[in-house]
Amino acid sequence: MLTWDRKYEIGIREIDHQHQWIFGFCNALEKQLRDKADDIDIEHILHSLADYSRKHFQYEENCMYKRNCPAAADNQCAHRNFLYAYRNFMERYEREGQSVELAWKIHDMVEDWIVNHICKIDSQLKESEITVHV
Ligand SMILES: [Fe+2]
Repeated sequence: MLTWDRKYEIGIREIDHQHQWIFGFCNALEKQLRDKADDIDIEHILHSLADYSRKHFQYEENCMYKRNCPAAADNQCAHRNFLYAYRNFMERYEREGQSVELAWKIHDMVEDWIVNHICKIDSQLKESEITVHV
């Protein structure tokens, strides 16, 4: 289970809030897997997690570009790689008949990725500033 901590704050309230939502999706998925929920419920949350992440990435990428954040290009690339890995997992999940074992692998991948990504890349937003072009 992921627990929100101040060390994950990047100081932009909307983005911190969106990261907390991703933590929430990840924990909800873990709970469903532990509770042995229906395949439909597990699949629903897997899709919701992907949809939400896609929207969040878009928001965050715009924010980084606006602030001339030095991590903007790396961030975009990391998001793209994450979505690619996630899509591959989902294709396997649908092909292999909704395996719980695979859903756990997706969960573990998201959990590791989000924590690392926030600390190494998103955290660089802290030092960036909005540049106003006159
Ligand atoms: Fe990011």
